[in-house]
Amino acid sequence: MVRDFQIDAAVARLKEGSLVAMPTETVYGLAGDAMNPLAVRRIYATKGRPAGHPVIVHLSPEADPSEWGEMTPLARILAERFWPGPLTLIVRRKPQVPDEVTGGLDTVGLRVPSHPVAQALLSAFDGGLAAPSANRFGRISPTTAHHVQAEFGSEIMVLDGGPAAVGIESTIIDVSTDMPCLLRPGAIDQESIEALVGALGTSNTPAPGTLKSHYAPMTSLLLSHNPQLDRSRLEAEGRTVAVLEATALEDHARNLYGELRRLDALGVDILIAEMATNVGIGLAINDRLSRAATKLSTDQ
Ligand code: TXA
Ligand code: MG
Repeated sequence: MVRDFQIDAAVARLKEGSLVAMPTETVYGLAGDAMNPLAVRRIYATKGRPAGHPVIVHLSPEADPSEWGEMTPLARILAERFWPGPLTLIVRRKPQVPDEVTGGLDTVGLRVPSHPVAQALLSAFDGGLAAPSANRFGRISPTTAHHVQAEFGSEIMVLDGGPAAVGIESTIIDVSTDMPCLLRPGAIDQESIEALVGALGTSNTPAPGTLKSHYAPMTSLLLSHNPQLDRSRLEAEGRTVAVLEATALEDHARNLYGELRRLDALGVDILIAEMATNVGIGLAINDRLSRAATKLSTDQ
């Protein structure tokens, strides 16, 4: 439960260029004033994220998104149907949007979250909040206030809006060109979007910052269609194992990051995650799982 005085304190911090962790329906975000380049640089520094990765601008339902980007007819159709909610639209930026937000691109990502605390904060702040997920670069996204505190300690003020209802990041659609493209699968599935605007392309240039290895636990992660079989095999080899089983899709998404964090802390040799059925939000779950399982030689 977040009270008015906490919203006021958070707004005061944001106005002076400090950061606040805000709950959204997808994951918690590390928010800063999107019109203040220093605040946005502070986001990069706090996360340990390389500069040049664009961040999403969050707006309240009553804000005018066309102050930030060009809302084409296609963008408007999607916004009308899916905002507030877990959809990010990439549109052509307006010139006043700082380069720190767009990573120097001529586009900007916009999203109107549905979480009541995010909306209360955005309305009281009366501006756009740049917010990537509130985790250190390359780590698992936070879905509770406690996860954010575990990442940043008392350094960052956290508004506790309870556990995130969706649990994985927003769907990202690039509508900055004539052919809308899916950049990141999420809670709003491709079929629902295509039912409204026709076939989506898939971009061959991934969103900057969408790395192959991402969202990663420390423990090695094995993806499996038959986790109990893999468990027996690995245990027979003398390894300690923890299993994350697939549940009903929406629950699986909601619990995914929290469970990965919990199992990661057990100190076993190997985590086994059961793949989700490849439909609806299951595609997004499997996308996140495969990124979590990819190990690159460089430290992310
Ligand atoms: O659900 C979410 O989207 C969460 C919550 C906090 O809103 N935010 C989130 O932000 O996941 P982040 O920074 O972890 O991921 C944002 C993704 C990045 O992969 C980035 O490359 C992409 O959005 N993105 C942002 N602006 C973009 C742009 N102008 N063009 C292409 N991709 C963009
Ligand atoms: Mg992230």
